[in-house]
Amino acid sequence: MALVEWKDEYSIGNELIDEQHKSLFVMLNELAEAGPGEKEGAAYTCLSRMLKYAQEHFRDEEKFMRDNGYPGLADHIKEHEGFIGQVEDYAEAVYNTYVPFQDMLEYLNNWLVGHILNSDQKYMDYISSN
Ligand SMILES: [Fe+2]
Repeated sequence: MALVEWKDEYSIGNELIDEQHKSLFVMLNELAEAGPGEKEGAAYTCLSRMLKYAQEHFRDEEKFMRDNGYPGLADHIKEHEGFIGQVEDYAEAVYNTYVPFQDMLEYLNNWLVGHILNSDQKYMDYISSN
């Protein structure tokens, strides 16, 4: 069973951003399937891919907010930076040491869903009503 399933309520009403969010869910499911690995294992590859993709996605989102004069941009960027830092730590950890795999999946899952439903929805509400 997939760890996270895309739900219509996750849509923030922008096709590009929604597609990118869906891709992040796909990557999270791939990570869950990869399972805890040895050095240079599948989990490390999945995390590295997720990291790179999230950085590109956040860049697009931040540009979108900046172009639309969203006043919460600085705080939103901090949330993105926090996530990137955490994924970097996880990637390092699964490569070098033992990492509690379920805890990691839970963090990534909760962060993604929570961030989309709260912070991303918030900038979209602002932008669509201005
Ligand atoms: Fe975001």
